[in-house]
Amino acid sequence: MKIGQKIIRLDVVDSTNNYIANLIKHGSIDSGTVIMADEQFAGKGQRNAQWQSSAGENLTFSFFLDDVNLSVSRQFNLSQVVALSIYNFLNNLGLDATIKWPNDIYVKGRKIAGVLIENQLKGSLIKSVIVGVGLNVNQTEFIGFSATSTRLETGRSKLPHDLLFSFISAFNEQMNELSQDKLHQKYLDKLYQFNVLAPYEDANGRFEGQIIDVLANGKLVILKDGQEVFYDLKEITFL
Ligand code: BTN
Repeated sequence: MKIGQKIIRLDVVDSTNNYIANLIKHGSIDSGTVIMADEQFAGKGQRNAQWQSSAGENLTFSFFLDDVNLSVSRQFNLSQVVALSIYNFLNNLGLDATIKWPNDIYVKGRKIAGVLIENQLKGSLIKSVIVGVGLNVNQTEFIGFSATSTRLETGRSKLPHDLLFSFISAFNEQMNELSQDKLHQKYLDKLYQFNVLAPYEDANGRFEGQIIDVLANGKLVILKDGQEVFYDLKEITFL
Protein backbone atom coordinates (compact mmCIF):
# COMPACT_ATOMS: atom_id res chain seq x y z
CA MET A 1 0.00 0.00 0.00
CA LYS A 2 1.91 3.00 -1.27
CA ILE A 3 1.01 6.68 -1.44
CA GLY A 4 1.93 9.52 -3.76
CA GLN A 5 1.15 8.05 -7.19
CA LYS A 6 -1.14 11.04 -7.58
CA ILE A 7 -0.58 14.37 -5.82
CA ILE A 8 -3.04 17.24 -6.07
CA ARG A 9 -2.02 20.70 -4.90
CA LEU A 10 -4.78 23.15 -3.97
CA ASP A 11 -4.36 26.86 -3.31
CA VAL A 12 -6.97 27.00 -0.60
CA VAL A 13 -9.47 24.59 0.93
CA ASP A 14 -11.42 24.25 4.18
CA SER A 15 -9.53 21.12 5.22
CA THR A 16 -7.64 18.58 3.13
CA ASN A 17 -9.24 15.82 5.24
CA ASN A 18 -12.70 17.14 4.35
CA TYR A 19 -11.71 17.44 0.70
CA ILE A 20 -10.86 13.74 0.62
CA ALA A 21 -14.07 12.86 2.51
CA ASN A 22 -16.02 14.59 -0.28
CA LEU A 23 -14.11 12.76 -3.00
CA ILE A 24 -14.89 9.46 -1.22
CA LYS A 25 -18.61 10.37 -1.21
CA HIS A 26 -18.49 10.83 -4.97
CA GLY A 27 -16.43 7.68 -5.42
CA SER A 28 -13.76 9.60 -7.26
CA ILE A 29 -10.50 9.03 -5.42
CA ASP A 30 -7.86 6.35 -5.82
CA SER A 31 -6.03 4.80 -2.91
CA GLY A 32 -2.71 6.52 -2.32
CA THR A 33 -3.83 9.94 -3.56
CA VAL A 34 -2.27 12.86 -1.67
CA ILE A 35 -3.95 16.27 -1.41
CA MET A 36 -1.89 19.20 -0.24
CA ALA A 37 -3.12 22.75 0.28
CA ASP A 38 -1.20 25.99 0.56
CA GLU A 39 -3.91 27.28 2.86
CA GLN A 40 -6.69 25.73 4.96
CA PHE A 41 -9.36 28.01 6.38
CA ALA A 42 -10.92 25.36 8.64
CA GLY A 43 -8.05 23.00 9.38
CA LYS A 44 -9.05 20.32 11.88
CA GLY A 45 -6.98 19.05 14.80
CA GLN A 46 -7.41 16.24 17.27
CA ARG A 47 -10.01 16.46 20.07
CA ASN A 48 -12.20 18.68 17.84
CA ALA A 49 -9.59 21.43 17.97
CA GLN A 50 -8.67 23.68 15.05
CA TRP A 51 -5.37 23.31 13.25
CA GLN A 52 -3.91 26.75 12.71
CA SER A 53 -1.22 27.21 10.13
CA SER A 54 -0.09 30.42 8.38
CA ALA A 55 -1.02 30.42 4.69
CA GLY A 56 1.76 29.30 2.36
CA GLU A 57 4.30 28.70 5.11
CA ASN A 58 3.70 25.14 6.20
CA LEU A 59 2.91 21.69 4.93
CA THR A 60 -0.72 20.67 5.27
CA PHE A 61 -1.81 17.56 3.43
CA SER A 62 -3.91 14.42 3.62
CA PHE A 63 -3.84 11.08 1.90
CA PHE A 64 -6.32 8.32 1.33
CA LEU A 65 -5.81 4.60 1.83
CA ASP A 66 -8.48 2.25 0.54
CA ASP A 67 -9.01 -1.47 1.20
CA VAL A 68 -7.08 -1.24 4.45
CA ASN A 69 -9.17 -4.00 6.05
CA LEU A 70 -7.47 -3.66 9.40
CA SER A 71 -9.39 -4.75 12.48
CA VAL A 72 -10.53 -1.82 14.62
CA SER A 73 -8.75 -3.49 17.53
CA ARG A 74 -5.46 -2.95 15.67
CA GLN A 75 -6.18 0.56 14.45
CA PHE A 76 -3.17 2.02 16.17
CA ASN A 77 -0.76 0.22 13.79
CA LEU A 78 -1.40 2.74 11.08
CA SER A 79 -1.05 5.64 13.47
CA GLN A 80 2.34 4.28 14.49
CA VAL A 81 3.45 4.03 10.86
CA VAL A 82 2.51 7.67 10.27
CA ALA A 83 4.20 8.91 13.44
CA LEU A 84 7.38 6.94 12.71
CA SER A 85 7.44 8.19 9.10
CA ILE A 86 7.33 11.80 10.31
CA TYR A 87 9.93 11.00 12.95
CA ASN A 88 12.23 9.39 10.35
CA PHE A 89 12.02 12.14 7.82
CA LEU A 90 12.63 14.82 10.46
CA ASN A 91 15.55 12.78 11.67
CA ASN A 92 16.93 12.83 8.12
CA LEU A 93 16.76 16.63 8.30
CA GLY A 94 18.91 16.44 11.42
CA LEU A 95 16.12 17.11 13.92
CA ASP A 96 15.94 15.32 17.24
CA ALA A 97 12.23 14.54 17.27
CA THR A 98 10.12 12.57 19.71
CA ILE A 99 6.62 11.13 19.42
CA LYS A 100 4.13 12.26 22.03
CA TRP A 101 1.27 9.79 22.39
CA PRO A 102 -0.67 9.19 20.30
CA ASN A 103 1.04 10.74 17.30
CA ASP A 104 2.12 14.32 17.93
CA ILE A 105 5.68 15.07 16.95
CA TYR A 106 7.76 17.28 19.22
CA VAL A 107 11.24 18.76 18.97
CA LYS A 108 12.83 20.06 22.17
CA GLY A 109 9.50 20.15 23.97
CA ARG A 110 7.64 22.03 21.22
CA LYS A 111 5.13 20.62 18.78
CA ILE A 112 6.28 20.52 15.17
CA ALA A 113 3.68 18.23 13.58
CA GLY A 114 0.25 16.76 14.24
CA VAL A 115 -1.75 13.95 12.69
CA LEU A 116 -5.50 13.50 12.31
CA ILE A 117 -6.65 10.07 11.16
CA GLU A 118 -10.29 9.53 10.22
CA ASN A 119 -11.41 5.95 9.67
CA GLN A 120 -14.24 4.69 7.47
CA LEU A 121 -15.56 1.52 9.12
CA LYS A 122 -17.31 -1.54 7.75
CA GLY A 123 -18.43 -3.64 10.73
CA SER A 124 -15.39 -4.21 12.90
CA LEU A 125 -13.00 -3.51 10.03
CA ILE A 126 -11.39 -0.27 9.01
CA LYS A 127 -12.25 -0.15 5.34
CA SER A 128 -10.39 3.01 4.43
CA VAL A 129 -8.63 5.89 6.12
CA ILE A 130 -7.98 9.56 5.63
CA VAL A 131 -4.67 10.59 7.16
CA GLY A 132 -4.08 14.31 7.61
CA VAL A 133 -0.70 15.74 8.54
CA GLY A 134 0.22 19.28 9.50
CA LEU A 135 3.94 20.09 9.69
CA ASN A 136 5.28 23.50 10.65
CA VAL A 137 7.91 24.40 8.06
CA ASN A 138 8.68 28.12 7.62
CA GLN A 139 6.45 29.66 10.29
CA THR A 140 8.53 31.35 12.99
CA GLU A 141 5.89 32.91 15.23
CA PHE A 142 3.24 30.94 17.05
CA ILE A 143 0.93 33.10 19.09
CA GLY A 144 -0.77 31.51 22.07
CA PHE A 145 0.74 28.07 21.81
CA SER A 146 4.10 26.44 22.15
CA ALA A 147 5.24 25.18 18.76
CA THR A 148 8.25 25.06 16.51
CA SER A 149 9.04 24.56 12.82
CA THR A 150 11.79 23.03 10.69
CA ARG A 151 13.02 26.57 9.98
CA LEU A 152 13.26 27.47 13.67
CA GLU A 153 15.11 24.24 14.37
CA THR A 154 17.51 24.20 11.41
CA GLY A 155 17.77 27.90 10.54
CA ARG A 156 16.88 27.07 6.94
CA SER A 157 13.70 27.63 4.93
CA LYS A 158 12.29 24.75 2.91
CA LEU A 159 9.68 24.48 0.22
CA PRO A 160 6.77 22.67 1.88
CA HIS A 161 6.14 20.50 -1.19
CA ASP A 162 9.78 19.30 -1.14
CA LEU A 163 9.18 18.04 2.37
CA LEU A 164 6.03 16.34 1.17
CA PHE A 165 8.12 14.21 -1.21
CA SER A 166 10.45 13.29 1.67
CA PHE A 167 7.48 12.31 3.81
CA ILE A 168 6.00 10.17 1.02
CA SER A 169 9.27 8.22 0.68
CA ALA A 170 9.56 7.77 4.44
CA PHE A 171 5.95 6.59 4.67
CA ASN A 172 6.22 4.11 1.80
CA GLU A 173 9.34 2.65 3.41
CA GLN A 174 7.75 2.43 6.85
CA MET A 175 4.51 0.94 5.47
CA ASN A 176 6.34 -2.27 4.65
CA GLU A 177 6.65 -2.79 8.39
CA LEU A 178 2.95 -2.40 9.17
CA SER A 179 2.50 -6.02 10.20
CA GLN A 180 5.81 -6.48 11.96
CA ASP A 181 6.31 -6.57 15.71
CA LYS A 182 9.36 -4.35 15.27
CA LEU A 183 7.03 -1.48 14.52
CA HIS A 184 5.65 -1.38 18.06
CA GLN A 185 9.08 -1.47 19.67
CA LYS A 186 10.34 1.27 17.35
CA TYR A 187 7.37 3.42 18.28
CA LEU A 188 7.98 2.90 22.00
CA ASP A 189 11.67 3.70 21.57
CA LYS A 190 10.75 7.15 20.23
CA LEU A 191 7.89 7.76 22.65
CA TYR A 192 8.05 10.87 24.84
CA GLN A 193 8.23 10.04 28.57
CA PHE A 194 8.26 6.29 27.96
CA ASN A 195 9.23 4.50 31.19
CA VAL A 196 9.83 7.83 32.91
CA LEU A 197 8.02 8.95 36.06
CA ALA A 198 6.16 12.11 35.04
CA PRO A 199 3.11 14.18 36.06
CA TYR A 200 -0.30 13.53 34.46
CA GLU A 201 -3.90 14.39 35.19
CA ASP A 202 -6.92 12.10 34.80
CA ALA A 203 -10.54 12.28 35.99
CA ASN A 204 -9.34 11.67 39.56
CA GLY A 205 -6.80 14.49 39.57
CA ARG A 206 -3.06 14.93 39.28
CA PHE A 207 -0.66 12.07 39.80
CA GLU A 208 2.82 10.86 38.95
CA GLY A 209 2.91 7.84 36.69
CA GLN A 210 4.97 5.97 34.15
CA ILE A 211 3.98 5.21 30.56
CA ILE A 212 4.66 1.50 30.11
CA ASP A 213 2.88 0.64 26.84
CA VAL A 214 0.46 1.64 24.12
CA LEU A 215 -2.08 -1.01 23.11
CA ALA A 216 -2.88 -2.02 19.52
CA ASN A 217 -6.21 -0.18 19.87
CA GLY A 218 -4.28 2.98 20.76
CA LYS A 219 -4.92 3.15 24.51
CA LEU A 220 -2.11 4.53 26.63
CA VAL A 221 -1.04 2.30 29.53
CA ILE A 222 0.24 4.14 32.58
CA LEU A 223 1.53 2.60 35.76
CA LYS A 224 -0.24 4.54 38.50
CA ASP A 225 0.26 3.61 42.15
CA GLY A 226 1.50 0.18 41.08
CA GLN A 227 -1.57 -0.49 38.88
CA GLU A 228 -1.89 -0.47 35.08
CA VAL A 229 -4.46 2.11 33.97
CA PHE A 230 -5.67 2.41 30.36
CA TYR A 231 -6.46 5.78 28.82
CA ASP A 232 -8.22 7.05 25.71
CA LEU A 233 -7.24 10.35 24.14
CA LYS A 234 -9.62 12.55 26.11
CA GLU A 235 -9.03 10.83 29.44
CA ILE A 236 -5.50 11.97 30.21
CA THR A 237 -3.49 15.18 30.15
CA PHE A 238 0.28 15.47 30.16
CA LEU A 239 1.25 18.15 32.69
C1 BTN B 1 -3.44 17.67 15.76
O1 BTN B 1 -2.31 17.57 16.21
O2 BTN B 1 -4.33 18.19 16.44
C2 BTN B 1 -3.74 17.14 14.39
C3 BTN B 1 -3.50 18.17 13.36
C4 BTN B 1 -3.75 17.68 11.95
C5 BTN B 1 -3.70 18.82 10.96
C6 BTN B 1 -3.74 18.36 9.54
S1 BTN B 1 -3.40 19.66 8.42
C7 BTN B 1 -3.86 18.68 7.07
C8 BTN B 1 -5.08 17.89 7.51
N1 BTN B 1 -6.30 18.62 7.28
C9 BTN B 1 -6.90 18.97 8.41
O3 BTN B 1 -7.96 19.63 8.49
N2 BTN B 1 -6.22 18.51 9.46
C10 BTN B 1 -5.04 17.77 9.05
